[in-house]
Amino acid sequence: MSHALFEPLTLRGVEARNRIWIPPMCQYMVDAQDGVPTDWHLMHLGSLARGGAGVVMAEATGVAPEGRISPQDLGLWNDDQAAAFARITSFIHTQGALAAIQLAHAGRKASTWRGWGERPEGNVPVEHGGWQPVGASPIAFTGLAEPRELTVHELPGIVEAFAAAARRAIAAGFDILEIHAAHGYLLHSFLSPLSNQRTDAYGGSLENRSRLLIEIVDAVRAAIGDDIPLLVRVSATDWAEGGWDLPQTVELSHMLREHSVDMIDVSSGGNILHVKIPVGPGYQLAFATAIREASGLPVSTVGMIDEPFQAEQIVALEQADVVMVGRETLRDPNFPIRAADALRYRMSYKPGPYERAYR
Ligand SMILES: Cc1cc2nc3c(=O)[nH]c(=O)nc-3n(C[C@H](O)[C@H](O)[C@H](O)COP(=O)(O)O)c2cc1C
Repeated sequence: MSHALFEPLTLRGVEARNRIWIPPMCQYMVDAQDGVPTDWHLMHLGSLARGGAGVVMAEATGVAPEGRISPQDLGLWNDDQAAAFARITSFIHTQGALAAIQLAHAGRKASTWRGWGERPEGNVPVEHGGWQPVGASPIAFTGLAEPRELTVHELPGIVEAFAAAARRAIAAGFDILEIHAAHGYLLHSFLSPLSNQRTDAYGGSLENRSRLLIEIVDAVRAAIGDDIPLLVRVSATDWAEGGWDLPQTVELSHMLREHSVDMIDVSSGGNILHVKIPVGPGYQLAFATAIREASGLPVSTVGMIDEPFQAEQIVALEQADVVMVGRETLRDPNFPIRAADALRYRMSYKPGPYERAYR
């Protein structure tokens, strides 16, 4: 039986022990609304590391307070947040996994209610910790407030916020960084012609719509040096006529490669609400494979991959280099251990105290 899923993967000299990675998953659990990780985040991310994943990626983390999706999101705009993250990366390392973090700005989809429990319509009002969202253009995401268009003079501040958060992430012990350019958040909203109707150097042509992301990639790379792998999560398509699509994502991935990005994390959707998405097992895999073939960069795939043989086949057939497993690892944080057992792979890093459970 092949064990491609359990082959290590090295990016810039940083070795992940296997190809089952945990994708970023917002918890909306910062009740103090100060962006500082709590025991919940230590327990949640720690248990995923203990479960045998190669890389555990912390959720979309705001590079600025107004860049959070909800007031309960994590942040990395100050040193208290970085100090609290250091405890988490340290525990992840004791489990033999690598720690990654997704740096994000939510743009026009910011200041929304947390993604579970009771969720009123619309945005979170100021008296509940909300704020005025900003965006590429004054075009609202369905059901949310119209964002204030960012002026061209504000964009260097956004670039610097990503770079500063990246610096703090390294200080906090993260091994891998990801920039969130998917799911309709700020950078995706700049990429897509449906949400970006600017007439300055950041709107119009593909090059212009990509400009903010490329500037952020360059600034983050300058901040973190040459040794840290940098990923970008993209939505390969808006699933909407006239929107962002696979050919543009392929063009973008060539640019990202030239600008020192090490892997593309391929998702889809999130910028337009009412679209038909053919959701099913591995429904985003074909995008990842196309981007891998066209760009020559390693890719990760994500989306309803929750069965060990399915995951193994994707890596063995070189359709993707990494399989990110989200909701299935919320159901069972020990999914990688279970996958190893199913594939008859002798995993040397099962937690010692748990060994008797697997005899
Ligand atoms: C609870 C939850 C929170 C999520 N938060 C994020 C996030 O912070 N950043 C992101 O890029 N995707 C986020 N996603 C999307 C996942 O990373 C993943 O792409 C998606 O769940 C599909 O994979 P799956 O079918 O294995 O769950 C989230 C998904 C879930 C279920």
